[in-house]
Amino acid sequence: MKQHDIGIDLGTTSIIIATEEQGVVFSQPSVGAVDTRTNSIIAVGDAALKMIGRAPSYIDIIRPLRDGIIQDHRMTNELIVRFVNEVCCSRILKPRVAVCVPVAITGIEADAVVESVLAAGARQVFLVDEPVAAALGAGLDIRAPRGCMVIDIGGGSTDIAVISMGGRVRAASVPVAGNAFDNCIAQYVQEKYSIAIGPRTAEELKKQVACCTASEFEGVMEIRGHSWETNLPARQLIYTRDLYEPVQELASRIVAAAHNVLESTPPELAADVAQSGILLTGGGSMLRGLASFLAGELHVDVTIAPDPLNCVARGTAASLSAGKYLTAGFRDATPKIWHSRLQSARDPFAN
Ligand SMILES: Nc1ncnc2c1ncn2[C@@H]1O[C@H](COP(=O)(O)OP(=O)(O)O)[C@@H](O)[C@H]1O
Ligand SMILES: [Mg+2]
Repeated sequence: MKQHDIGIDLGTTSIIIATEEQGVVFSQPSVGAVDTRTNSIIAVGDAALKMIGRAPSYIDIIRPLRDGIIQDHRMTNELIVRFVNEVCCSRILKPRVAVCVPVAITGIEADAVVESVLAAGARQVFLVDEPVAAALGAGLDIRAPRGCMVIDIGGGSTDIAVISMGGRVRAASVPVAGNAFDNCIAQYVQEKYSIAIGPRTAEELKKQVACCTASEFEGVMEIRGHSWETNLPARQLIYTRDLYEPVQELASRIVAAAHNVLESTPPELAADVAQSGILLTGGGSMLRGLASFLAGELHVDVTIAPDPLNCVARGTAASLSAGKYLTAGFRDATPKIWHSRLQSARDPFAN
């Protein structure tokens, strides 16, 4: 397979690679495992994810990205290099790569992303704002002089933006997303039943049982954990109604952030959003009842994008050909020195 233009969604939960022609071509958890005795990386992606909670003490399981920002450079480099090489087998024709980044990224953090992608063999690197990529991936016509609002709820953060004429007009990011819902569910079970559950059980509870809107769904799941009272393994049935309160409390923080963005949006664009509604993307948007909860609180229609998990990756790939009409939130981040190298490679007599 030869891929010369690819888009990378560098998510806290997964790294997803897409091309404009083929859609998603690669998806793996953004996780790696290090053997601390030798300081070597022994597994990445799915293989490392399977080790969580089951590895001996000398193995460190690392999630190197937090809210789309690199926390562990070596591991992020390793993941990007391995994953890009898996997609782009051709070592001669190097790919042009677009990477989506969170709206709150700083210059230094963006440089770190660019460095990692260049180390993976990219010919040129473009950075695109995550909400712009999300809107493109959902097929919105973001070129039009019309406001549209996108809320991308990932694992680590929720990115909110109002976009018009190919650029973002207002944006905000809150550290409340999928992982925060898992944590609040685990905390609830611990406080109510004195049972400690692992992150995987908490995530399963969120997907199977939790719901943000009362009376929209009623489910139950048996969880197994460690009882603090008996110090032994314990089981407990958890019902949807048990989880309304903690889940709604967190969802209210997303509502507050979206409210602030809407409040500061120029009136014409806010009127567009009121008419066309809000689009949700990202895996976190699949939390049951969340869309209707947001709609009820913000008094605006809220729709979940088709295929919300892969939407950003598809939009990131699409940004490479759409780049010419994106006014903001898309830029060629290839360092100048790299450009001049490219130039002299094309024209050996240029200097
Ligand atoms: N059916 C579902 N219901 C609720 N949450 C879900 C569902 N499927 C995935 N998620 C959550 O989506 C989050 C990952 O979303 P994703 O967009 O891939 O994140 P990121 O961009 O941070 O990599 C995780 O917290 C995961 O638990
Ligand atoms: Mg994401």
